Amino acid sequence: MTAVLPAGLSSMAPLPVLPAPGVVFSSLDCTGGGVSVVTVAPAVLEVQQDGKVLCRVTVESLSPDVCRLTPTLAGDVPGGYPLCLALLATVEVVSSATPGLDTVLFPVTQPELPTLPEAIRYVLESGCAVQDGDTVSIAIELFWQVSSLWTAPHMHHPHQIRRVMTGKIRHPLRRAKVPGEQYRRFIPWLGQCLSLSLIDPATDLETFHSWMNDPRVNAIWDEAGDRDKHAAYVAERLADPHVMPLIGRIGDRPFGYFEVYWAKENRIAPYYDCEDFDRGWHVLIGDESCRGRDYVTAWLPSLMHYIFLDDLRTQRIVGEPAASHAQQLNNLSRGGFALLKEFNFPHKRAMLVMLLRERFFENRKWSAHLAAPAAQAAE
Ligand SMILES: CC(C)(COP(=O)(O)OP(=O)(O)OC[C@H]1O[C@@H](n2cnc3c(N)ncnc32)[C@H](O)[C@@H]1OP(=O)(O)O)[C@@H](O)C(=O)NCCC(=O)NCCS
Repeated sequence: MTAVLPAGLSSMAPLPVLPAPGVVFSSLDCTGGGVSVVTVAPAVLEVQQDGKVLCRVTVESLSPDVCRLTPTLAGDVPGGYPLCLALLATVEVVSSATPGLDTVLFPVTQPELPTLPEAIRYVLESGCAVQDGDTVSIAIELFWQVSSLWTAPHMHHPHQIRRVMTGKIRHPLRRAKVPGEQYRRFIPWLGQCLSLSLIDPATDLETFHSWMNDPRVNAIWDEAGDRDKHAAYVAERLADPHVMPLIGRIGDRPFGYFEVYWAKENRIAPYYDCEDFDRGWHVLIGDESCRGRDYVTAWLPSLMHYIFLDDLRTQRIVGEPAASHAQQLNNLSRGGFALLKEFNFPHKRAMLVMLLRERFFENRKWSAHLAAPAAQAAE
């Protein structure tokens, strides 16, 4: 069945740059329904799960910002939910490869895919799509806010509000921490997944200890010391409800440490008009081989993506790097942060930086606009 083109669209627009034939894009791992997507022809993606082909999807550009994806059968008929995951995985691939894409269209029925209407129902339930006759339209800006696609199952429940006091600060009670992986996303230009997990003292302490004693890191963090000091530091962060101490990994390799905090209970709050769900963060990249452009453009958007997905009420992410830290201020500006003002902390002159949810999703700051593997392979 062919969808009627919305007015003003032609089917002459250039095709999105998909991953090169044979390159596997893995997607939606955190849902437990992880799938692999392979380009099998210039405009055809094949989606597999556990080695089984779920479907093929033909990609057509209708304009520079609208794509139509048409699924076809390429094996046994998949169930409605696996097919929904397959469709959403192709949206991730196509939108990662095409930074200007606004909308993806799917047909609602397809004679050879009797489970497609059920799959489309799941897509509609995710909240990122609307149906118009026999076409479903996914807004890319909404798609990247579907938390369940990249976050761990314990983060998929709605959050209740109860106000509590910490000292003299009244703030929402924060959710209890759940050990293990919190977020996972495939990074096309690294060909691997980036994940964020709650730090585990049993396995991560040695790495954390060596990173904190790196003079480059210590120049900013000022926390060099022995193992006992670092064990106490990690225990204190794990016990503090306003801080999420996270280890970042590329594949299985730990590369950095992040502290994500609720701004309301943090030292930053008195310096601006802080809101209940504002969040802030600190970073150190410990593994020297994971420094530079390819990595900053992987971890910075992914960390911000994790923060915005963790609580949909978070509208703003703040930070307070040293006002003299030109290298990091440059990375933050390129990542979508506004540099708001310099101010005096007791221990340093800082720059207040802020990233809006709207800026991140509307201006696709989740994508670093890097070349897709196909383009890299062609270089
Ligand atoms: C600060 C720190 C996180 C920066 O990470 P890094 O891997 O060293 O990255 P660098 O700043 O050296 O390089 C990033 C490169 O990516 C580029 N880049 C950043 N964002 C980009 C984007 N969106 N698109 C394209 N390129 C981008 C930068 O311009 C820079 O390019 P250059 O090397 O040509 O100048 C890291 O050095 C670190 O952990 N330092 C110690 C602790 C620290 O300072 N923490 C921050 C406290 S606020």
